[in-house]
Amino acid sequence: MMGKVKKFCVINYKGGTGKTCTLINIAYAISKRGLRVLVVDTDPQGSTSYHLGITPKKTLYDIITKKYSPEECIYKARENLDLIASNEHLFPGETYMHKQKNRETILKDRFKDLFNNYDYVFMDCSPSINLMNQNVLLCAENLLIPVSMDYMTLLGVKQLINNTKLLNKNFKTSIKVSKIIPTFYNRHNNKTKHVHDSLERIFSKYISSPIRANVTISEAAGQGKTIYEFAPTSSAANDFDKLTEEVLNYEQ
Ligand SMILES: Nc1ncnc2c1ncn2[C@@H]1O[C@H](COP(=O)(O)OP(=O)(O)OP(=O)(O)O)[C@@H](O)[C@H]1O
Ligand SMILES: [Mg+2]
Repeated sequence: MMGKVKKFCVINYKGGTGKTCTLINIAYAISKRGLRVLVVDTDPQGSTSYHLGITPKKTLYDIITKKYSPEECIYKARENLDLIASNEHLFPGETYMHKQKNRETILKDRFKDLFNNYDYVFMDCSPSINLMNQNVLLCAENLLIPVSMDYMTLLGVKQLINNTKLLNKNFKTSIKVSKIIPTFYNRHNNKTKHVHDSLERIFSKYISSPIRANVTISEAAGQGKTIYEFAPTSSAANDFDKLTEEVLNYEQ
């Protein structure tokens, strides 16, 4: 019998904190362990598809507007790793969503059945406080929050957590933080130390092992490859392995 699907969203309202890189590499590492993984890109920037080397024709926009079913929009990105892609066409999707009844739960409704075909679902988010991200939070209630070791990112985390509290109150959900992931981590840097200390004070039980700043990660992304395909023996691959184990061991 199939186990229950585990759903995560990778989110931070601040841009460039390593959301997409984190998501792609964890998702791939889990798929390599023989589990079925679905990645859903909800960001009109479309970086998730690019990072997996896919130029999509059918996207999340078609699912939201009911032009196609979710099944019809699946791209087989790798063995055991499927993708629902996005691109700039998703931009007007936000306007469409605002006009619908139950506008906050459109994604939850559309993906109700599809998600059950997988062991893990990871949803990638744009860096914004908008209706789409509200939908994502209600759809995948477990948060992975990459925090680049920067002061402004902490503010983004605080706003995010306040918003989840509001949603939980209004929708009677149980959206919760699963992991706070230190990214662009450099233990020789004072800023890293300060931000990590602040995180420890507020979120100590959620903090995962860090992803160190490493140019190999962006080189892999630029070539449409995961770190495991681009540099499998790198320290970056090692960092993602540790993090993947922690995500796999997390009980939802
Ligand atoms: N640990 C790291 N070390 C060095 N570069 C990294 C690291 N993680 C991500 N990058 C690079 O930094 C940039 C931002 O990363 P990424 O796209 O994953 O962030 P994001 O949070 O998804 O951004 P956005 O908010 O725009 O969606 C990319 O060019 C990526 O390749
Ligand atoms: Mg991104």
